[in-house]
Amino acid sequence: MTAVSLSTSTAAALRADAVVVAVAKGPKGLVLAPGAETVDEAFEGRLAEVLATVGATGAEGEAVKVPAAAGLKAPLVLAVGLGEAAEGYTAEALRSAAGVAARTLHGSKKAAFALPATDAAAIEAVTLGALLGAYTFTACRSDNGKADTKTPLAEVALVGAKRGDKAAKAAVERGTVVAEEMNRTRDLVNMPPNDLFPKSFADIATTVGKETAGVKVEVLDEKALTKGGYGGILGVGAGSERSPRLVKVAYTHPKAKASLAFVGKGITYDSGGISLKPAGHNETMKCDMAGAGAVFASVLAAAKLGLQVNVTGWLALAENMPSGSATRPGDVLRMYGGKTVEVLNTDAEGRLVLADAIVRAGEEKPDYIIDVATLTGAMMMALGSRTFGVMANDDAFRSTVTEVAEAAGEPAWAMPLPAHLRGPMDSTVADISNMGERMGGGLVAGLFLKEFVAEGITWAHLDIAGPAFNEGGPFGYTPKGGTATAVRTLVALAERAADGKL
Ligand code: BES
Ligand code: MN
Ligand code: ZN
Repeated sequence: MTAVSLSTSTAAALRADAVVVAVAKGPKGLVLAPGAETVDEAFEGRLAEVLATVGATGAEGEAVKVPAAAGLKAPLVLAVGLGEAAEGYTAEALRSAAGVAARTLHGSKKAAFALPATDAAAIEAVTLGALLGAYTFTACRSDNGKADTKTPLAEVALVGAKRGDKAAKAAVERGTVVAEEMNRTRDLVNMPPNDLFPKSFADIATTVGKETAGVKVEVLDEKALTKGGYGGILGVGAGSERSPRLVKVAYTHPKAKASLAFVGKGITYDSGGISLKPAGHNETMKCDMAGAGAVFASVLAAAKLGLQVNVTGWLALAENMPSGSATRPGDVLRMYGGKTVEVLNTDAEGRLVLADAIVRAGEEKPDYIIDVATLTGAMMMALGSRTFGVMANDDAFRSTVTEVAEAAGEPAWAMPLPAHLRGPMDSTVADISNMGERMGGGLVAGLFLKEFVAEGITWAHLDIAGPAFNEGGPFGYTPKGGTATAVRTLVALAERAADGKL
C-alpha cells in the first residue's frame, strides 16, 4: 500500500513527482487554500492566476495540473478543488480532495501534499483520503497491475509538518490503520466469487487473525454448523458446491469498557437461489458479502488501535445458488435457537444467515449488536447509492449510530420499523416467513431480523445495499467497485464504547 509520512520540508523544497495544493471558490474567483504559500512564491504570487487561466475554479472534485515554476523541486503542480472557500475545511472536503489527488497521480511515485491540514483531525483526514484514493485492485490482472496507469502512488509526504508533533504522528497512524482496513474490505468485495467463497474467506480470516495481536478466530464448518443446528446458514448454503461457514473474530482488551457484537452478511455470491435473479440483477452480486467484509476489517482495526473494548465479529458466510440440493420456496428452516422460518423466496437469503448469527451473537450477552448487510434492493430505491439505512430496536441508539456514521464521513439515514409490517410475515406453517409486503421491503427485512435479537440487547441494523458497491464512476476517495462502507462507522462506535460514551 501507499505510505503516508510527515515531512518538515517545505512544499517547494521536497523532491517529488508532483506537489499538490488545494484551491477553493472565493467570492471573486479562485483562491489558494492555506498550505500552498511556498509554491505560490515560486510562481511569484501568480499561482491562482495561472490555475484560473487553465480553467481551474476550485470546485469540489476538480483536479488541474500545471508545470512547476523554477525553484520548485517537483516538476508538476496539481491543484485539487475544495468547493466553497471557508475559514476551515471539513474533514470530508479534505478527505475528498486528498483522494482526488491520489487518484489523479496514479502512475507517479512520490507526491508532496501541501494541503490545509495542520491540526490532527485534518491530518488524519488527508492521510485517509490519500490512502483510499490511491487504492487499486490488481489481483486479477495478468501483469499484477504493472502497467503505469494502474500503479498506485507509492509515497505521500505531508509537507510543512512541525518537528516532533506527536498528535500529527498519531493522526497519520490512525488514518493509516483505518485506510488499510477499508482497503482490505474493498479487496474482499472486489475479489471474484470463484476466488472468494465461504471456505476461502474463512481461511483468510484465520490467517490474518493469527497475524493480529489480541484477535482470535474460530471457524464453524458445515459439520459444526449441522451439529449446532444453524438452519438458516445451512439452508442458504444448501444449493452450493461450496459449503457455508460461520466465522467468529474476537478482539478482547483486558480493561474493556463495553462489549460489542458486529454481525456481517457474507453471501459470497447471491444468484437468488431457486428464486433466481434475472440477468441484469446478478452481475454485481459478488458484493453481497460486503457486510461481513466490513465487520471483519472493523474488528481488526479495533485491535490494531488497541481500543479498550471487546469486539466480536460474526461472519455469516454462504453462497446462494440454485441446484438439486438447494432450499426451495416452501421449505421450512429450523434456525439456530429453535425458531422456524418458511422460505417463500430464496432470494431473501441475507436475513436467514443473519438470523442465525444474531441469535448466536446474543448468547454472549454483548451490550450492543450491530449487523451490517447488503440486505435489500428496496433500501437502495429509498436512499440511493451513497446512503445506508439505519434501523434499531432503540430510538436513541438509532440516532447515535446515524450521527456517528455521518461524523465519520459515511452518509446514513434513520429508518423506522413500523409494527404493521410484521403481520404480513406470518406463515401458515412456521413461526414466521422470510417474505412480507413488497412496499417498504427494507423495513420488512429489518423487522424480520429484530425477531432474532435476544431480550434486553440494544441492536442496530445497517442496510448498506446502496453504498457497498460503486457501480458509477470514481469520485473523491471512492473507486469503482467495493467501497468499504460501514467500516468507519463500526470503528467509531467501538472507539465511543472504549471511551465509555456509547
Ligand atoms: N443481496 C440482495 C439485495 C441487494 C440488491 C444488494 C441490490 C445490493 C444490490 C438481497 O439478497 C435480495 O435479493 N433482496 C431481495 C429481497 C426480496 C426477495 C424480498 C430484494 O431486495 O429484491
Ligand atoms: Mn438475495
Ligand atoms: Zn443477498
